[in-house]
Amino acid sequence: MGNMKLTLKIWRQSGPNDKGRMETYPVHDVSEDMSFLEMLDVLNDQLVRKGKDPIAFDHDCREGICGMCSLFINGEAHGPGRGITTCQLHMRKFKDGDTIYVEPWRSTAFPVIKDLATNRSAFDRIQAAGGFVSVNTSGNLVDGNAVPIPKHDADKAFDAATCIGCGACVATCPNGSAMLFTAAKVSQLALLPQGRPEAKRRALAMVEQMDKEGFGNCSNTGACEVECPKGISLEHIARLNREYLAATVTKE
Ligand code: SF4
Ligand code: FES
Repeated sequence: MGNMKLTLKIWRQSGPNDKGRMETYPVHDVSEDMSFLEMLDVLNDQLVRKGKDPIAFDHDCREGICGMCSLFINGEAHGPGRGITTCQLHMRKFKDGDTIYVEPWRSTAFPVIKDLATNRSAFDRIQAAGGFVSVNTSGNLVDGNAVPIPKHDADKAFDAATCIGCGACVATCPNGSAMLFTAAKVSQLALLPQGRPEAKRRALAMVEQMDKEGFGNCSNTGACEVECPKGISLEHIARLNREYLAATVTKE
């Protein structure tokens, strides 16, 4: 099987200050077994052979772990399909003759670096503001597994910890909100005893940083949960709101 002919409409932008535009690229001999990124590799190979500038796009692990791949495909973050990242999207999701629109994440807080690659360091700064525990790792430590944790809490913390920081939640939110990401990072620690001592400071600092970065407000549309490749639940946003409120009313 294979040999699909496709028309790609791809966002090209030479740098952060370029206005950018959609450009059209025909691609032939696309196998349904290719991943979406492999199909872009083939197109880039053709562009390089013709002496043209290849299309810049982010990727690293290509197995749904690192969160680097970040394409808006036919109006959906990570394209058609649920619970997958762009690198896990296969060309069998498309048909011969299809026209496919490929754009970068669109958000004020994620400026375009070039073409389809965006700067998502705002997420790093939110994480650095409080997404950690300050435990002493230099001496004799209690084995983490020796601390009793209710199974329900451990499971929920694990679910939150599966967030890969891809940014699909922001890109798909009509307000460009980073609440699902921030909520996952706060929840992951709020549910565990190791995270409690710094819980108040963490919730306040991470929300403050999120606001500084220019993300929009959450208005509970739920689009983020639908497009999240890791199925991070809106219930983590409810937990972040509770953590933040409790921290605000009891702060010294
Ligand atoms: S919450 Fe989901 S969509 Fe948002 S950054 Fe984490 S994994 Fe990606
Ligand atoms: S390239 Fe790592 S998640 Fe897609």
